[in-house]
Amino acid sequence: MRRIRLGINIDHVATLRNARGGTHPDPIRAARLVREAGGDQVTAHLREDRRHITDADVERIAREVDLPFNLEMAATEEMRAIALRVRPHACCIVPERREERTTESGLDVAGQETYLRRYVGPLLEAGIRVSLFVDPDPVQLEAAARVGVPCVELHTGTYCEAAGTARERELRRLVEAARRCAELGLECHAGHGLDYDNVRPVAALPQVVELNIGHFLIGEAVFAGFVAAVRRMREILDAVRSGA
Ligand code: PXP
Repeated sequence: MRRIRLGINIDHVATLRNARGGTHPDPIRAARLVREAGGDQVTAHLREDRRHITDADVERIAREVDLPFNLEMAATEEMRAIALRVRPHACCIVPERREERTTESGLDVAGQETYLRRYVGPLLEAGIRVSLFVDPDPVQLEAAARVGVPCVELHTGTYCEAAGTARERELRRLVEAARRCAELGLECHAGHGLDYDNVRPVAALPQVVELNIGHFLIGEAVFAGFVAAVRRMREILDAVRSGA
C-alpha cells in the first residue's frame, strides 16, 4: 500500500502559547519541524474566536514554512476571504460552534448543498484543494460528490471515543465510507482523536490517503519531544502500510 500522507495539526501549540498570552511556544517552530519528523503537511484550524491559531499564525505558516499547508476553517465569508488571500495548498471545511470544545461532528453537506457548491467554487478556481469534513455517512459523501470537491475528510472522533462493540461498529462505518469515497471518485482523508493505538485500523484502510492528527501528538510532545512524538506516528503508519 502507498505511504500515507501525514498532516500535523499544530493548533494546540498555539493553545499553550495563548495560555500566557506571549510568544512561546511558537506554533511556527513546530510547523518547521514537521518535515524532519516525517510529516508531510502542516494543518491548522483558524477558528472564528481565534482561541488557538491566529491570523498572524496563518500568514506565517503560509510564508515561512516550506510544506503544504492545510487550512481548516468554517464555511464563512470571512474565512474564504482569508483563504483566497493566503492561498494555502488545501482547505478543509469544518462545521464550527462557538461553545464546542473541539469539532464535534461532520459538516451537514446534504443540508446545505447549494450553499457549499457556491462557497467552494472560488476556492477551487484559485487552485486550492478543498475537502469537506464529514461523518462516515453515505448520504453526506454523496452530497459531497455533488458539491464537486475533490476530497473529503472522514471524522474519526466517534470511532476514537467508542469502546468494545461500539468501536467495531464505528470502524465498520469508516470501512464502508472509505469504499464509498472510492466509488464516488472522492479522495479519502481521515482525522480527529487519533492516537498511536486507534490509528492502526484507520491507516490500514487502502482508500485513505491522508491523516490529520493534532491533539494527541502535541500532548505526547510534552513527554517525548515534538520530533520524537511525530516520528513514532510515522513509524506506526509506515509499519501498517507495509503490512508489518
Ligand atoms: N481534522 C479536522 C478536520 C479537525 O477539525 C481536527 C481538529 O482540529 C483534526 C483533524 C485533528 O484532530 P485531533 O486534534 O483530535 O488529532
